[in-house]
Amino acid sequence: MRVREGAVEIRVPDARDGASEGRGESVFYNPEQELNRDLTVAVLRAYRDRMGGSGDDETRGNDDGERRAPTYLDATAASGIRGIRGASEGWDVTLCDRDSAATALCRENLAYNDLDGEVTNRDATQLMGKERFDVVDVDPFGTPMLFAESAVRGTRRLLCVTATDTAPLCGAHLQSGIRKYGCVPVNTEFHSEMGLRVLLSALCRTAARYDRAARPILSHATRHYVRVYLELTEGATAANEVVENLGYVHWCPDCLARGSERGLIAHPPESCPNCGHGVKTAGPIYCGAIRDRGFVDRVRESVEEEMGTAKRARKLLDRLEGELDRPTHYDQHKLAKGWGRSASAIEDFLEKLRAAGYEASRTHYGGTTLKTSADVGEIEAATVPEN
Ligand SMILES: C[S@@+](CC[C@H](N)C(=O)[O-])C[C@H]1O[C@@H](n2cnc3c(N)ncnc32)[C@H](O)[C@@H]1O
Ligand SMILES: [Zn+2]
Repeated sequence: MRVREGAVEIRVPDARDGASEGRGESVFYNPEQELNRDLTVAVLRAYRDRMGGSGDDETRGNDDGERRAPTYLDATAASGIRGIRGASEGWDVTLCDRDSAATALCRENLAYNDLDGEVTNRDATQLMGKERFDVVDVDPFGTPMLFAESAVRGTRRLLCVTATDTAPLCGAHLQSGIRKYGCVPVNTEFHSEMGLRVLLSALCRTAARYDRAARPILSHATRHYVRVYLELTEGATAANEVVENLGYVHWCPDCLARGSERGLIAHPPESCPNCGHGVKTAGPIYCGAIRDRGFVDRVRESVEEEMGTAKRARKLLDRLEGELDRPTHYDQHKLAKGWGRSASAIEDFLEKLRAAGYEASRTHYGGTTLKTSADVGEIEAATVPEN
C-alpha cells in the first residue's frame, strides 16, 4: 500500500490479505500517528530556526566553510516515514531499527523519494551510546524508558519521545508505572496530564544524572500516547533548576480537589481540605511548564496546509499555548456530575470563573477540560447555574 504524508510518499506492506492502496494498518505504519508526525515536522522546522539553521558539530562542515545540515536520528524508524519526512526538510538523517525488514523498507522508501540518509539495522541504544545527533527521536511501541539513558547521551540538542503505555503512565497499571518511571502515578480524571508529567519527570531525572537539564519546549497527550520535546543543555546548575520543578499532587477522589507542592519530600494533607475524605498522592511528577509559549507559536507557523492534520495540529497548538501553567486540569463534566448539575458550554463556564476573578483556560486534553486558579470549592461557587 502507498501512503502520502506531507511532502513524501512511502510504500508499506499491507498487514491484511489483498494489499490495497490506502491508509490502512501495517506493522510498519500507523495512520493514527499522523498528527504526531506532522507536529514532528513542524517542530523540526521551528527548531532549526531556533538553532540558527545548522548543526553544532563543526568537524562535519566542509572545507569551504559551508555549514552542515543538522543531524536527526529516527531511532525506531519502522517504515522510515518520520526520518524520511525529516530528510525532505533538509535534515541529515539516520534511520535506525533493530528489525531488518524495517530497515530494508527504510532504504526502499528513501530511494523511492530520491532522498539521502543513513540506514542502520541495530539496537538504537547501542547507536545512541556511541554517536551524538542534534535531534534524537525515540518512538517505540510502549515505554520509551528502556531508551532513556542512551537517548540522553546520544542527543546534542533536542530529544523527542513518544510513550504509548498510557496505562502505566497514568496509574491504571500502578506497579508497572512505578517500575518503569520511578514514581507513583495515580489514576485520576486528569489521566493524560498525569501520564505526561510522569514521563517528563522520569526523563528529566535521567538527564540530570548526566548533569544535563532537560526542559520541555513542547508536550502533548491523548488517551493513547504522550509526546514530549525536551531541549537539553549542559551543566549541573541548569539540571538542578529543572529538578526543582519536580513535586507532588495530592488529589481527592471524592470531590476532585487537589493541591500541589514542589520538592522531593511529600507533605500530603491528613484529609481533603474541601470535603474531609482521604487524599491520594502522586509523584514525583514534573510540575513545571510543559511548553515554551514562543516555541509553540513558531511551531504553529511551521504547520503547512500540505499536512494531512494541519487543522487539528493548529487547534492543538492554540490550546497548548493558551493553557495555564498548572500541573493538573479539571473536567467540567466530572465536576458537574459530582455536584448534581448539568454541564454547560465550556466557554460560559470559563467566563464565570474569570468574572469571579480567577484565571481560567481551556486545555489541549479535551473539549470539556480546563485549568483555573480557583480551587474546587471556589469553582463550584463561581459557576452556579442561573436558575
Ligand atoms: C512504533 S514503531 C515506530 C514508528 C515510526 N517511528 C513512525 O512514526 O511510523 C517502533 C519501531 O521500533 C523498533 N524498535 C524497537 N526496539 C528497538 C531498539 N531497541 N532499537 C531499534 N529499533 C527498535 C521496532 O522494530 C519498530 O519498528
Ligand atoms: Zn475532597
